[in-house]
Amino acid sequence: MNAIDCIKTRRSIRKFQDKAVDPALIEQIVEAASYAPTWKNTQTARYYAITDPELKSKIANECLMGYEHNASIINGAPVLIVMGTIHGRAGYEKDGSFTTSKEDRWEVFDAGVCCQTFCLAAHDAGLGTVIMGVYDEKDVADAVGLPEGQIASCLIALGYPDQDPSAPKRKEVSELLTFK
Ligand SMILES: Cc1cc2nc3c(=O)[nH]c(=O)nc-3n(C[C@H](O)[C@H](O)[C@H](O)COP(=O)(O)O)c2cc1C
Repeated sequence: MNAIDCIKTRRSIRKFQDKAVDPALIEQIVEAASYAPTWKNTQTARYYAITDPELKSKIANECLMGYEHNASIINGAPVLIVMGTIHGRAGYEKDGSFTTSKEDRWEVFDAGVCCQTFCLAAHDAGLGTVIMGVYDEKDVADAVGLPEGQIASCLIALGYPDQDPSAPKRKEVSELLTFK
């Protein structure tokens, strides 16, 4: 698949086939995602692939602030990726001060870049993903057992797609782009 096709045909997938994903394929996707650009190449993203049904349903049922929509996606997905971010590096100087006025927001920026790279690599490998932002950070971190200093940056459901949604409408380039 060429890059533009991969970018344009990736869709958020919320229904998955009842089929396990080979751990070697998940490793391959994370290896591709490791090529994402990051603040001073700090590479603070960490990926937790949750396949244990008990842990997955604990996250779905107890860590999503009661958001049923995401709970049913996770319960129906063979894999839940919890993306962790090592806090305190992207956007920081070695002495612990912030490099720019964006302060620590660069670490969230890096997480987004890594997350999309992961989703595109998964799509190229024939897998579907949806990024989920509605969850309780602390509850997820506790359930997964994230190491001290790591935050839960996003959840990504992963599996073989069982739907082929059309693309939600995109804005015109004329609205998005300004030449000056
Ligand atoms: C930061 C972020 C958070 C999102 N959170 C959710 C979510 O909690 N649940 C969900 O079903 N989709 C979620 N989405 C998916 C968006 O709804 C989806 O990307 C958007 O509608 C465009 O559709 P597409 O991904 O198929 O192009 C999220 C996407 C992003 C980037």
